[in-house]
Amino acid sequence: MGFVLIKFTRITPAHTFWIKLALHVIALSLLLMTYYQAFTDQLGADPVKAILHFTGIGAFNLLLISLLISPLAKYLRQGQLVTLRRPIGLYAFVYAACHFTSYLLFELQLEWSLLFSELLKRPYISVGFVALLILSMLATTSTKSIQKRMGRAWQKTHNWVYVASLLVALHYIWSVKSELIQPIIYALILLVLLITRKAKFLKPFKSRLHKQTNTEQTKKKLA
Ligand code: HEM
Repeated sequence: MGFVLIKFTRITPAHTFWIKLALHVIALSLLLMTYYQAFTDQLGADPVKAILHFTGIGAFNLLLISLLISPLAKYLRQGQLVTLRRPIGLYAFVYAACHFTSYLLFELQLEWSLLFSELLKRPYISVGFVALLILSMLATTSTKSIQKRMGRAWQKTHNWVYVASLLVALHYIWSVKSELIQPIIYALILLVLLITRKAKFLKPFKSRLHKQTNTEQTKKKLA
């Protein structure tokens, strides 16, 4: 019913303004409440695990929602919905940054040498780290002025979100010791989203392949 209503009601900038406001309130208050509960001993026997779970799952959920926006906007013919992608993607980064910071602060007690050995010893940590680096690059280049300055390269850069989300799915599957059901469901949802955006998802790989073939052809011509 709600879906049919959205299809026939035009979503205006005023609507997306209120949706963005709700997003800020919900995303920030949930984050603050979780840390408050952790510091006041209300998060059970292992508050660090609870924080890592909340921020990790939160970041992955937001990442998946940001990937859903474009196909949904296309299906509903509501172009205005696309303006929600940036704030949702930024909150995915904020949650992922809190996830990493909590791990560094509460689990490793800020011991940087321990972080390096964990990165080398545990593949799921290194995969998560690469995903976080990609998300950081996307967050720092997400402003309108940088988008303008980067021109066509901006879209190419932002297609790396697909690689980051695959790495996050791998990180999640690898991080659990048993009960693989939930991470596998997440990976399947991601796969469906990637299939709907197949052309864009393959772009980072295709452009690399294209460049490689071009240089090989030039080398052959010069030889
Ligand atoms: C340097 C970067 C990262 C580090 C060090 C890290 C560390 C961790 C750790 C220690 C766990 C808990 C594993 C356990 O329960 O034993 C975890 C779980 C998880 N992480 Fe990360 N992570 C990183 C990046 C990311 C990113 C970028 C995302 C998402 C955008 C993410 C999403 C998740 C998810 C969904 C889980 C499973 C949560 C659960 O069910 O408990 N992680 N991560």
